[in-house]
Amino acid sequence: MSESHPLAQPLTLRRLRQDAHIRQLTQRVHLSPKQMIQPLFAVAGIAEKEPIKGLTGTYRDTETTLLNQIESDLNNGISKFLMFAVPNKKSTDHFNYDFAVKQIDAVKQRFGKDVWLATDVCLCSSTEHGHCGILNEAQDAVLNGPSTIVLAEQALAFAQAGADCIAPSDMMDGRIAAIREALNAHDLEHVLIMSYSAKFHSKFYGPFRAAANSSPSKGQAKIKDRASYQIDPGNFNDAFRSSSRDAAEGADILMVKPGLPYLDVLARLSDAIDLPWAVYQVSGEYAAIECAAQNDLIARIPAHIELWTSYKRAGADMIITYGARYAQEWLREAGY
Ligand code: PBG
Repeated sequence: MSESHPLAQPLTLRRLRQDAHIRQLTQRVHLSPKQMIQPLFAVAGIAEKEPIKGLTGTYRDTETTLLNQIESDLNNGISKFLMFAVPNKKSTDHFNYDFAVKQIDAVKQRFGKDVWLATDVCLCSSTEHGHCGILNEAQDAVLNGPSTIVLAEQALAFAQAGADCIAPSDMMDGRIAAIREALNAHDLEHVLIMSYSAKFHSKFYGPFRAAANSSPSKGQAKIKDRASYQIDPGNFNDAFRSSSRDAAEGADILMVKPGLPYLDVLARLSDAIDLPWAVYQVSGEYAAIECAAQNDLIARIPAHIELWTSYKRAGADMIITYGARYAQEWLREAGY
């Protein structure tokens, strides 16, 4: 053709998109199971492991199935975990951490350094009212000081049991400093703190709360939600202040949670604060893909991979996801 069509454009950007070779060579974002963390639920007082609605492949594990699950995950390239221990007795104070401590100890006895174990530190699974801290007598406010003292005790017990990393998700002020001080005073300087520093007051935590038996809405407290301690979805500055403060108090890793609705926050914060960043693809985000896929509305595996890619592109170093244990299989299937 000698004369070109008036609308014809020279190939410019599409030259770099034309085949898988050049697309792979130019890709800036990479996914690897090595940078993924699998959440685990260890549940006291259940006889068999139980599925969790919306979280395909994640279970409420018994003491025994927990260890089998980790063994199978190791075989699938996943060695980093975030454990939530769910006790069967709830109280309002004088909490008993024996169940969690026993699980941490069992994991470490069996797998030692092959497993990197972060443990969630929070009170919502332990309190009768489901709040992340201790309530005042009128039951209309979460007390910051007393909660922080108890959280630091919990963190110390978990670190002494062998946890590699302490992950406080409660959102009390000053808990990172209190935890760091407690750890350092007991020769546990090497234990990391991953702070849920930009944790929003989100509607995407539903499947998790069912699994961890930790909803604040059905308890006896007068406050029925976590708005007075988690960050308001419309407030970027609070997330910035909270993350800067936690970094100054000694957090080693910071986190944005949830991921997808807060990608802008992740991008801006990871640019502004030079620490490793985790993103938590929370239960509701994961379940949304699973539900859409079950209804033939979305292609399951590529959709999960696309979301994980978005977290990385926005600046996450590591991804906490219920799909971690499938990552190796899915990435291989998608031609990674
Ligand atoms: C506990 C906690 C929550 C999650 C992690 N730790 C729920 C909440 O704050 O109510 C949510 C994780 C998920 O939805 O996957 N404070």
